[in-house]
Amino acid sequence: MAYELNEFIADCRAILSRDPGPAGREDVRQRLERLLANQAFVAATCGEDVPTGLKVLYEDKDLGFQVLAHVNDKARKSPPHDHGASWAIYGQATRHTDMIEWAREDDGPDKAKLKPVKKYRLLPGHAGIYQDGTIHSIDYPDSARFIRVTGTNLDNIQRVRFDLASGKVHQMTPQQAT
Ligand SMILES: [Fe+2]
Repeated sequence: MAYELNEFIADCRAILSRDPGPAGREDVRQRLERLLANQAFVAATCGEDVPTGLKVLYEDKDLGFQVLAHVNDKARKSPPHDHGASWAIYGQATRHTDMIEWAREDDGPDKAKLKPVKKYRLLPGHAGIYQDGTIHSIDYPDSARFIRVTGTNLDNIQRVRFDLASGKVHQMTPQQAT
């Protein structure tokens, strides 16, 4: 039997109620990979015929987590950014996403020096986790689509992005970068 979205959501609720910390999120990441193995789910949410855009598949009223489908059309390269006080899990559905995780080499609030600490490619069926405070950047080709789970609605919290050339730290506007 294929693992369905409603089962994934029920599992997320149970896991994050019991353990909202890093271990619980890792458990969610592994279940997202199970969900992405369901080809019917991938086709229905991220298939070629699905209208492009960002879709909220589920938002939990009690715990606040969201399940989002990023049905991308065009390639995109994001600047390094964090997810504020939240966390995020990216599960690749189609094509790939090149990920870079960054570390700050400074402690200034407005100006940052970043160095890349981890580079890897997320392929279909694989999910990467970015715990609270982790800085990452993403780079994907046309039609690369993914399912993202966030601890809360990121539009409602303060987040920052980094300009690598100038080192400037900018507050992010809603959904400016993923
Ligand atoms: Fe992100």
